[in-house]
Amino acid sequence: MTTAGSAPRRGGFSEDGSAEIVLESFAHTPDPRLKRLMTSFVEHLHAFVKDVEPTEEEWEQAIGFLTEVGHMCDATRQEFVLLSDVLGVSALVDAINHRNPAAATDSTVLGPFHMVESPRRELGSDISLDHNGEPCVFAGQVRSFDGTPLPGARVDVWQANGAGFYDVQQPDVQPERNLRGLFAADDHGRFWLRTVVPRHYPIPDDGPVGRLLDATGRHPNRPAHIHVIAEADGHTPLTTHVFVEGSPYLDSDAVFGVKRSLIRPVTVIDDPLRADHYDVSNPFKLIEFDIVLAPVTERA
Ligand code: BEZ
Ligand code: FE
Repeated sequence: MTTAGSAPRRGGFSEDGSAEIVLESFAHTPDPRLKRLMTSFVEHLHAFVKDVEPTEEEWEQAIGFLTEVGHMCDATRQEFVLLSDVLGVSALVDAINHRNPAAATDSTVLGPFHMVESPRRELGSDISLDHNGEPCVFAGQVRSFDGTPLPGARVDVWQANGAGFYDVQQPDVQPERNLRGLFAADDHGRFWLRTVVPRHYPIPDDGPVGRLLDATGRHPNRPAHIHVIAEADGHTPLTTHVFVEGSPYLDSDAVFGVKRSLIRPVTVIDDPLRADHYDVSNPFKLIEFDIVLAPVTERA
């Protein structure tokens, strides 16, 4: 008996024609995008299997690995996203989907720690509730492509503390919503807040993805960074990071998120007037990060 819509395969399955035989079974997929996805997936998967010629034990191991990845996922841990991250696929999907014009600020991966909503905070607030780290000011201006400031732009910020942990990783240690804040830029598109200099940290490596990194001689670390999502009316939202200049791992980020254009120094400012403006003691540390958003119509 043949399945409705498929023709009988006279020669049966063969190694040489494996992909074509499987592709036939998808020939009547009504959704053209799904058909395109499955066609390319089957072609590449069969080519991969023919290339590496796995033993049956190896294939079982591969399936066991993916099964473990699935079992490691829950409301606070997404091991499949982590797998996509360490394979560079998250960075590639981001690059494909954000081919912004050169003048716009570069995007990078979202990461798994934006799992809770950032609390709305006043400009100038201190988002470091545990004061674990070197105090610093984080400030910038959100502008459109042509340099026009974007008043009221929303700037969502989250980061690890000076020990390299996010609040959600240490619910019994850090205050809830530590180092998170949603800010509205002022009339000149400017935002500023008090925080601590983030530290580099390892991605969660106590699961199958960590074992994969270990088995392949890779480290699990990310360079120090602050996550930012910036949004303004009429503009494409931007998900990005600011990387701390001089941080270890800038050249070997475990998830391939670093772009040179996103690296900023922590500068020491000796200026009583500016210290006063930011409500910090003089001298103070500052990370400056201006953000340029692409108008929706000018998106490539
Ligand atoms: C992060 O930056 O928060 C992150 C990104 C990818 C994987 C793990 C963590
Ligand atoms: Fe991060």
